[in-house]
Amino acid sequence: MTLTERGLTSIFLAKEYGVTVFAADLWISATDNYERIKSMGLEDKIIPIHAGAYDLPFAHECFDVAVCADAYHYFGVEGSYLKNYLAPLVKKGGQIAVAVLELKKEFTHGAPAELLPYWFEDMNYHSCDWWYNLWKTSDSFSIKECKELKWLEEAWKDWLSCDNDYARRDIGVMELRVEITLIWFQSQLLSCELDF
Ligand SMILES: C[S@@+](CC[C@H](N)C(=O)[O-])C[C@H]1O[C@@H](n2cnc3c(N)ncnc32)[C@H](O)[C@@H]1O
Repeated sequence: MTLTERGLTSIFLAKEYGVTVFAADLWISATDNYERIKSMGLEDKIIPIHAGAYDLPFAHECFDVAVCADAYHYFGVEGSYLKNYLAPLVKKGGQIAVAVLELKKEFTHGAPAELLPYWFEDMNYHSCDWWYNLWKTSDSFSIKECKELKWLEEAWKDWLSCDNDYARRDIGVMELRVEITLIWFQSQLLSCELDF
């Protein structure tokens, strides 16, 4: 299962690894994503689903892997999210992987005023340590990695030079010298007991 926008991560995983993917997305309709998936000839591999992260319509323990790219910070800042909503969908011994933009250092007094024009509601940027501390509180997982990605500089250069309105907006953010990084979290599910 993936949680991403426009099915891009799902398309990558299906193309590169030949896996079957259930692509859950809140902002983009399943029909829009299906059109893109069909245009890539991957309709037998990817099933697009329109759903919110707290209401994922899947059976417990039905996935080997759950992948979330650039989305987790919109909904996963409550410590209970991983354990109560995402992990139950993954088989015991399965993997959860999250890649997300974050801060190099926590803000000490909230987001600086000059950054607010770029801030979306629910954009919960934190540091790698902050996420590690959130995730490590559960003994249902063993954390395999939680770290800044190696190809950070290259990824930013690539993104900021592309012909895209969000990329042009992000040039403004980078000029503010708020240091934003890309972190990667991978864990193995040991067990998951729900505590609703
Ligand atoms: C900035 S986009 C991710 C773009 C990503 N780099 C990509 O193109 O694959 C953020 C994603 O977060 C998802 N999202 C935000 N809030 C969500 C929520 N409450 N439940 C599920 N998905 C959510 C949106 O559906 C969107 O796909």
